[in-house]
Amino acid sequence: MVKVGIIVGSLRKDSFSKKIAKNVATLFPNGFETEFVQIGNLPLYNQDFDDTNDAPSEYSSFRDAAKQLDAILFVTPEYNRSVPAVLKNALDVGSRPYGQSVWDGKPAAIISQSPGKLSAFGANHHLRQSLVFLNMPVLQQPEAYIGNVGNLLDDSGKINDDNTVQFLQSFVDAFVELIKKYVA
Ligand code: FNR
Repeated sequence: MVKVGIIVGSLRKDSFSKKIAKNVATLFPNGFETEFVQIGNLPLYNQDFDDTNDAPSEYSSFRDAAKQLDAILFVTPEYNRSVPAVLKNALDVGSRPYGQSVWDGKPAAIISQSPGKLSAFGANHHLRQSLVFLNMPVLQQPEAYIGNVGNLLDDSGKINDDNTVQFLQSFVDAFVELIKKYVA
């Protein structure tokens, strides 16, 4: 079974990103399982902890959980034209101590969303910039920018637009093909 971790860049209870992620989780084929990775409990990364034995226990639980994953799907909003701090913090925590990054070589894909028209393009591409440095092969096409997200979800959080579901299915299919290249 291939394990795909899903990391959502918003802690908001009614987060659109979380709702989109829940819909996308259902689109993976047999042989793939998805798991939501929680990042809201991680204390802010501090490099001093890399050299001591008293790093927050949340760091090691998070790193251990991330190491078990074969691939990562990021679903995120944009905060101030960039990646929400909680998501950047999770990337930083997972990337250290130096040489022990949990991200190295793991295939990844990004979905960005916004209630407006710009679809969090800025966050999507700032996140890509970090993933290049983290040596994560990132799905190039199709790119997933979900705009006007509030109009795409029904009261139960289900995507009510067939074109969007079809697009997200093609996105997942392409991600699955990418993952297969890296996971035996
Ligand atoms: C935002 N929002 C926002 N939207 C956007 O398109 N570009 C931006 O730069 C920002 N900046 C921003 C900063 C902060 C601090 C907040 C709280 C919000 C609006 C944002 O897209 C909206 O709140 C989304 O609903 C957030 O995603 P979730 O929480 O629904 O997943």
